[in-house]
Amino acid sequence: MPHPSEPVRRTLLKAFAATPAAAALGGLAAPAAEAATAEGPAAPAPQAAPGIVKSLPDPYFTVRGTNAEARFDAFADTGFLTPADRFFVRNHTSTPVLDAEDWRLTLWGDGLHGRRPVHFTYGHLRDLPSVTRTALVECAGNGRSLYATQQGQTVSGTAWTLGAVGAARWRGVRLGEVLRRAGLAHDAVDLLPRGLDAPYVSGGTDYGRVRRPLSVAKALDDVILAYEMNGEPLPYDHGHPVRLIVPNWVGIASVKWLGDIEVSTRPLTSPWSTDWYRLLGEAHPPGGSAPITRQTLKSGHQLPFGAALEAGRVHRLTGRAWSAHAPVRTVEVSADGGATWRRAHLHDAPRRGAWVRWSAPWRPTRTGPATLLSRTTDAAGNTQPDRAVHNTQGYLFDAVVRHPVTVV
Ligand code: MTE
Repeated sequence: MPHPSEPVRRTLLKAFAATPAAAALGGLAAPAAEAATAEGPAAPAPQAAPGIVKSLPDPYFTVRGTNAEARFDAFADTGFLTPADRFFVRNHTSTPVLDAEDWRLTLWGDGLHGRRPVHFTYGHLRDLPSVTRTALVECAGNGRSLYATQQGQTVSGTAWTLGAVGAARWRGVRLGEVLRRAGLAHDAVDLLPRGLDAPYVSGGTDYGRVRRPLSVAKALDDVILAYEMNGEPLPYDHGHPVRLIVPNWVGIASVKWLGDIEVSTRPLTSPWSTDWYRLLGEAHPPGGSAPITRQTLKSGHQLPFGAALEAGRVHRLTGRAWSAHAPVRTVEVSADGGATWRRAHLHDAPRRGAWVRWSAPWRPTRTGPATLLSRTTDAAGNTQPDRAVHNTQGYLFDAVVRHPVTVV
C-alpha cells in the first residue's frame, strides 16, 4: 500500500487501479481514495474506505472501517436488483485488483481422484455451460447494531444497520460441474475455498487468507462460481474475476477473488468456522453453536431513521422483506408500536433466496414521535420475533425493526 504521505502517487494509483492496464499488472491492492491532488485541495471527494476501489457517494453508502454499508433507505430508488455501484462491500483487508487473463483456480486435496492439483483458467470456466441465478448476498452480521440500539445488548463486530445485503443476477458455472471435471471422489465431504486477498491480521495474529469450509452437499446443490454480476464482469470489489455465490448462506461463504479450493475426505475448519461465525453466549451451547450456515429472515422500511412525515397526508411506506428459509408469505406493518398490524402489498412474486418489495399507505394524524414496524412471515411459518436471541458477535439479527419517525 502506498505511504499516507504520498497523496499525488495515491491519486494516480487510484485512477490507474480502475483501468484495464492496472488490471494487467495483477495483484495490485486498491489504494485509499484521495481527496487532494497535486494542484491543491479538490472538490469534496466521495467518502473513502481503505482498500475499496469503487466510488462510495454519501447518499448511497456509510463507510465502516474497511467496509461500505449500502443505505437501506436509498434502496427506495433501486429496482429489484441492486446495481453493482450501490452494492455493499465487506472486505476483511482490501480489494486486490486482479487480471482475469493471469488468474487460475486450483482444486487440490485428497478428495480428488488423482490427488493431484487441477487448474482452471478464466477462459476454461467461460467455455463451460453457464447458469444465471438471482441471489442475495447478506453479511451474517447484517442488523448487528440493532442488538445494541434496540435490545440494549453488547456485541462485537462491524455495526451494520440493515444495508449489508444486496440482490444481484449472477452468471457463472456450477461448482458441481467444476468439481466433477476435477475428479471429485465419492467420499469427499468438505471444501475449503480461499480468496486471493491479503492475509487477515487482527490483534497481532495472522489468520491467513479468507477461507471458510463448505460442505460438498451444498456445493453440489446450488453454488456457483460467478464471473458476472448484473450482466457485467464482476467488479473488482465484488470478487473479480471469479467468486463463489452460495445462495441463502451467510455472506462469508461467498468467497471473493477465489484462488483455490481444498477438497477433503475429512471435515475442514478455519478461523472463519471456529473463532467467528458461530453463535456464542448464554443462550448457546458452551463453546458455541455449530458454524452458522443459513441466513435468517428480515424486513425493513426504506426510510431514514428519524424521517419527518407530514400529518394529515397519505404516505406510501415502502420496504423489502426476505427469508433464507422459504419464500416470503406476508409482510405486515404497524404504526402504533405493534398494537395493530395491517398487511402490506407485495410487489414481487415471492421466491426463496430473493426479497420482495412491499408498500403500505399510512396517514398519520397525530404529530410527534412514532415508531413504524414491519414484520415478515415466510412460507415455512417463520415470523420475525420481537427480540432476537443474543449472541456475543451479533450474528443473524432477525427481530422486528423499530423504526423511529417524527410526524410534523
Ligand atoms: N471473500 C474474501 N476473499 N475476502 C473477504 O473479505 N468477505 C466475505 C465474503 N467473501 C470476504 C469474502 C463477507 S463477510 C461477505 S458478507 C461477502 O463477501 C460480501 O460480499 P460483497 O463485498 O461483494 O458484498
